[in-house]
Amino acid sequence: MKKACVVYYSLFNHVERLVGILDEKLEVDKYKIETNGNKFWVVFSQMFGFGKIDFPIVDLDNYEIIYLAGPVWNSKYARPLRKFFDKHNWKNKRIKLIISCGINQGKTVDLIKESLLISGGELITYKVFKNGEGDISKKIDELIG
Ligand SMILES: Cc1cc2nc3c(=O)[nH]c(=O)nc-3n(C[C@H](O)[C@H](O)[C@H](O)COP(=O)(O)O)c2cc1C
Repeated sequence: MKKACVVYYSLFNHVERLVGILDEKLEVDKYKIETNGNKFWVVFSQMFGFGKIDFPIVDLDNYEIIYLAGPVWNSKYARPLRKFFDKHNWKNKRIKLIISCGINQGKTVDLIKESLLISGGELITYKVFKNGEGDISKKIDELIG
């Protein structure tokens, strides 16, 4: 079994950068959720719940720890990451969250916690990053533990 993977979504590259730093420190397998096309259209179509999403194929059973990383949109994880979450079985999975926001995480953690409680997964820890502010490297170290 491999140590860790990160499944992530990033539209404006803040999350992409965080994932890069995590990868430098931990060498994780990276799986990116993609939405193609003009960014304005991506936001619009995702916010209204019909935007196309290209999901990576991930066998979550292969990993001791799964990092989920994504931006906050309207006080919860962006739709592409939530859709990935909904498509998978989280029973006995151990999860760490990377949350990137402009102001605050809103309901993001509470919603994931609630879903994991139902599906039998475990939220180990999480960190909230505000658009590249603060000591990112230190926070990622803390997240890795
Ligand atoms: C459609 C949309 C909705 C957003 N909603 C929130 C929000 O509710 N709260 C917040 O703090 N930031 C919000 N943001 C800011 C993003 O969470 C933040 O800029 C994040 O770092 C973007 O990550 P990315 O660059 O990897 O896409 C929103 C951004 C977008 C595009």
